[in-house]
Amino acid sequence: MTLLFCSSSDNADVWRAEITKHLPDLEMRVWPDIGDVADIDMALVWKPPAGLLASLPNLRLIVSLGAGVEPLLEDPTLPEVPLVRMVSEGLTVDMAGYVALQVLRWHRLVDEYGALQAASRWQPLDHRPASDVTVGVLGLGELGAASARTLRTMDYRLLGWSRSPKSVEGVESFSGADGLAAMLPRCDLLVCLLPLTAETRGILNAELFAALPAGAVVVNAARGGHLVEADLLAALDRGHLRGASLDVFGTEPLPADHPFWRHPKIRITPHVAAITHPSRSAVQVADAITAFRSGRPLANLVDRRRGY
Ligand code: NAP
Ligand code: GLV
Repeated sequence: MTLLFCSSSDNADVWRAEITKHLPDLEMRVWPDIGDVADIDMALVWKPPAGLLASLPNLRLIVSLGAGVEPLLEDPTLPEVPLVRMVSEGLTVDMAGYVALQVLRWHRLVDEYGALQAASRWQPLDHRPASDVTVGVLGLGELGAASARTLRTMDYRLLGWSRSPKSVEGVESFSGADGLAAMLPRCDLLVCLLPLTAETRGILNAELFAALPAGAVVVNAARGGHLVEADLLAALDRGHLRGASLDVFGTEPLPADHPFWRHPKIRITPHVAAITHPSRSAVQVADAITAFRSGRPLANLVDRRRGY
């Protein structure tokens, strides 16, 4: 049994060292030095070249280094073998931290105090108690639910939207189009943690922004494809939205001449909200391989029909 590793943004040696702590006998090949393709029956990948996985005749398992799998599903040649996505405590804790950071940034006037410090001004500003601030989370899955729970510990009011109703303590659950319409007008901040699918592409658009209260803030930590960029700029520029924190973009890296870079109401991070750290996530990969080898049911399988 041989694992193919393919990612241009992850360190293969570090991953090998971490996975072999759990599976010392594992043979791992690193793309493009893959040797005899017939040996390979498992692949651990992030954005592999289209067609690569289809060229492996004995492939039986694909494990995604990312939680979001739309880059894989977009490859029409993707083999019909089980696809396991990344769900790990490290990734989840990272995302909850990013979301908390962005909510606090806007609620606790971090940028305003930065400007005051730059002017050497001691000027207390008013902020509402967290218990008066409502945060809506689009997507109450692994990352959305964990982010909502973290914000609850800080006393924020939490609303969450998912395909099916959810029971997350302290989070009011909404689902379906009617649920979204009911939730949006109540959100002081809206956090997107949806998977990118045919149904969710472009969901952060002019209609959604108009349904948010004036002065709302949008945080997108999911995928750039969720956001209609021109609609965000229009909603910010006419003053309806107060600001946006964006971690993900339609084109990554974000081109140097993109208007988001210099927009005074946009805060940018370069797709780092949640990282699949090998030291925290190799055990998930090892578990998937072990289950696969022993014929046990696989956790975190992607439902290709749903797209996530
Ligand atoms: P997940 O566990 O699969 O959760 C997805 C959630 O979205 C579920 O609650 C699901 O509802 C809901 N959903 C899906 N389609 C929907 C629809 N059409 N209408 C309403 N709700 C819908 O995914 P996750 O692990 O939380 O990850 C979410 C996304 O975060 C990933 O797909 C990825 O794009 C992004 N991500 C970004 C970073 C970063 O660094 N920026 C890092 C990791 C992941 P049900 O539960 O009812 O199915
Ligand atoms: C990162 O964006 C991921 O999907 O894990």
